[in-house]
Amino acid sequence: MTRTVIRGGLVVTAAEELNADVLIEDERIVALATTGSTVAQGWTADRVIDATGAYVIPGGVDAHTHMELPFGGTFASDTFETGTRAAAWGGTTTIVDFAVQSVGASLREGLDAWHTKAEGNCAIDYGFHMILADVNDASLKEMDLLVGEGITSFKLFMAYPGVFYSDDGRILRAMQRGADNGGLVMMHAENGIAIDVLVEQALAAGRTDPRYHGEVRRELLEAEATHRAIKLAQVAGSPLYVVHVSAASAVAEIAGARDQGLPVFGETCPQYLFLSTDNLAEPGFEGAKYVCSTPLRPKEHQAELWKGLRTNDLQVVSTDHCPFCFTGQKDLGRGDFSKIPNGLPGVENRMDLLHQAVVDGHITRRRWIEIACATPARMFGLYPRKGTIAPGADADVVIYDPTAVQTISAETHHMNVDYSAYEGKEITGKVRTVLSRGTVVVDDGTYHGRAGHGRFQRRDTCQYLDR
Ligand code: URP
Ligand code: ZN
Ligand code: ZN
Ligand code: ZN
Repeated sequence: MTRTVIRGGLVVTAAEELNADVLIEDERIVALATTGSTVAQGWTADRVIDATGAYVIPGGVDAHTHMELPFGGTFASDTFETGTRAAAWGGTTTIVDFAVQSVGASLREGLDAWHTKAEGNCAIDYGFHMILADVNDASLKEMDLLVGEGITSFKLFMAYPGVFYSDDGRILRAMQRGADNGGLVMMHAENGIAIDVLVEQALAAGRTDPRYHGEVRRELLEAEATHRAIKLAQVAGSPLYVVHVSAASAVAEIAGARDQGLPVFGETCPQYLFLSTDNLAEPGFEGAKYVCSTPLRPKEHQAELWKGLRTNDLQVVSTDHCPFCFTGQKDLGRGDFSKIPNGLPGVENRMDLLHQAVVDGHITRRRWIEIACATPARMFGLYPRKGTIAPGADADVVIYDPTAVQTISAETHHMNVDYSAYEGKEITGKVRTVLSRGTVVVDDGTYHGRAGHGRFQRRDTCQYLDR
């Protein structure tokens, strides 16, 4: 058995802040004790990690990533190997990625393919949601089986007709099944049928630049789809988790539903909190770097997203990490914004950007841990194994230096993508040491992890719902 003690740090969880030492045996946290107490001083250890002046926080849980996602004729540029290594560098120790059902194929075929991509390649622990692209009698039955295997959440799309899109009837059926089997429906809420009309009209009028991606994906069409998804969930008697919320009016729909007592949850992402349509409008083809869906919105929306995070109308910040290189991938859409692969890199930056939000006064330190670690773990059935620092939890621990200053750059990041959406942004705060199940994977600027350390996590059903 290996005993590790982390001494002298400020332990920050969603629930409390303690000057405490943390005792780890092999892969688990076994005890916390006040720093300097006789109990803590009595601990012997094979390895002592000095956390003086630093925070001791749970490893980040990023519940929305797309390693190697096939999209728009290409693949997201991070593999499970490169993407999970970058995640570890940024203080994230668990990802939940999306396995994809292809139209005409079974859930099993999609899930097997994603297990094959991930197994033996991940630096940190990982789980899967399942994208339902073809809701039918057979795939609805398969949902039940997947829930039993720890795939307890299912993403549906009101956008991307002809690719991932489901009509309202299929969505309703999936929600009814989820209400029955405990699967949580995650919704990409944009009216893709209407958006496609606006795309055709924009292109016909010669509006081909990246910024038109943001203009045709109208805020109203995010709010409308969010509203419709909420009503469909209400009819089905199912909970609903709305992914990548970017519009203030969509936040208002979620807030309204929650005020009625409905089990509706909302996620936003750093790109919506820190970037805007100003980035999409950058000259030349630079705006392509910021093409994702839902799209970036005018700056005014950011205040509403921060407010939603403070009031708990939004509960989770995930990255929707889906990187495409500027050269060779985003390029596919020169002269036609609709051909720019959708998605932004960010799995490495989330914990830092949200710490910057603490420094800037948008959220408190504990709320940082809540939205980035504890709530995503609870939402997706991983708590308290993940998302907190407590006896019995996995020793996924980050020693975080709150005063170190760093500048985000593609020159220094570890994601396999040739640009950073946050190039030049200065961050106060930096990861010092990262442990994944008791193993040091990053320490003082050196990587010690290995592909294959990360294990598949069978998840329970959503822990915010009585079952
Ligand atoms: O633009 C995005 N978000 N790409 C990834 C796919 C999705 O819709 O989440
Ligand atoms: Zn989506
Ligand atoms: Zn996504
Ligand atoms: Zn700010």
